[in-house]
Amino acid sequence: MASGEDAGFPPVAALRRDFLWGASTSAYQIEGATHEDGRGPSVWDTDGRRGRIEGKDTGDAACDHYHRYPEDVALMQRLGLAAYRFSVGWPRVLPQGRGTPNEAGLAFYDRLIDALLAARIEPWLCLYHWDMPQALDDLGGWTNRDSSQWFADYAALVADRYGDRVKRFATFNEPSIFTLFGYGFGKNQRDKSGVEAFHRGIHHINLSHGAAVDAIRARVPGASIGAIHNVQPCLPSSPADTDGARMADAYWNRAFPDPQYRGVYPDALQAAVEPLMQPGDLARIHRPLDWFGLNHYSPVYVRNAPDAFFRFDFGDRPPGTPVTPIDWPVDAPAFRDTLLRVSRDYGLPVYVTENGLGGSDKPDDGGAVRDDNRIAFLRAYIAAVNEAVAAGADIRGYFVWSLLDNFEWDAGYGVRFGLVYVDYPTQKRIPKASFSWYRDLIKSARAAA
Ligand code: FCB
Repeated sequence: MASGEDAGFPPVAALRRDFLWGASTSAYQIEGATHEDGRGPSVWDTDGRRGRIEGKDTGDAACDHYHRYPEDVALMQRLGLAAYRFSVGWPRVLPQGRGTPNEAGLAFYDRLIDALLAARIEPWLCLYHWDMPQALDDLGGWTNRDSSQWFADYAALVADRYGDRVKRFATFNEPSIFTLFGYGFGKNQRDKSGVEAFHRGIHHINLSHGAAVDAIRARVPGASIGAIHNVQPCLPSSPADTDGARMADAYWNRAFPDPQYRGVYPDALQAAVEPLMQPGDLARIHRPLDWFGLNHYSPVYVRNAPDAFFRFDFGDRPPGTPVTPIDWPVDAPAFRDTLLRVSRDYGLPVYVTENGLGGSDKPDDGGAVRDDNRIAFLRAYIAAVNEAVAAGADIRGYFVWSLLDNFEWDAGYGVRFGLVYVDYPTQKRIPKASFSWYRDLIKSARAAA
């Protein structure tokens, strides 16, 4: 019989026997049903309503996962996933962000979790994948120090409700990305952007993380808790751009993981957070964690931008750098190095909680979606995981972003990351070539373990 590698699979021999193969999604990007069953609006509904998303798209329908979750869980089962990472929509369970819970919204995640467990897929529940309730944003959102209490109360509600069945909890997804692009570059939540909001947001999100960890720990025996961070090498576009690269690394890669996992802010941010710090804050942020969730796509090339308050901007990449269809550099060795760095610096098991390729896939005349570029990308990046493990990194799992094509934030529906193609007008799901490839890889890796 052909070995896995002969069949076009990456080497996986260094991975643990219990290596977890998964896929990720998030609430606002797939659920739709934004006006149903008592859900309240989030900041992304507001952005959509104001026409700020590419193509004037909104998340109103998305993948209609709110109604079609049984079909989606069946797809996960066909893939052979051991784990599925999703997020709870805060405004679905607490329409005002705090106060009276919405029973119908809570019941949706009961159904989803029960369906996952029945399919023997481990639910990985993320509390915050960017859908801040509008009612709380109106009170300042993360710029308000009270946000840590709001978030802890929300975490307690979720832990009380699902903690009998869910043990894997993540607090935040990619806090550096939504603060940088929201309060920093002023894309989403542009009304609130600016130097003060940016740094307040960073510190209060860190406090909220710590408060949520405590709330979950107190309620869920055996909980395994982590946070999910986007970490990418931030490389200078030219030899002169080292200051920009240092600042990008501090804001993008370290502003959250360093205080959360090590109890320190990076040197480059000390002066900015100092005025916000109250006695005991670092201890409130630095709570014991069980794992590190790493989202990784590609290195970022940056240049100095002395006039920007965060002192960097995006710069040119070296000519000839291979890129994905949405122009993100492809660099699997950079992924391997990042895995090694994160595993070494934070000293906990690492799960790759997102990795994948965005494109503009289309069915061919026969109705098949042949995403060979995605397969090649996944092959190279999973090979990099194997290399990192062989070199000593403690990597325990890999989740593809994403199960389904979905609402890709500012880019709307034009950018597709799924293993499954979604025909939005009909909501028909068409598994792509990468779906079969990933299914067969999982099968072959399990057989070899
Ligand atoms: C990450 C986000 C995820 C998705 C991918 C492509 O930054 O966490 O929701 O948009 O990028």
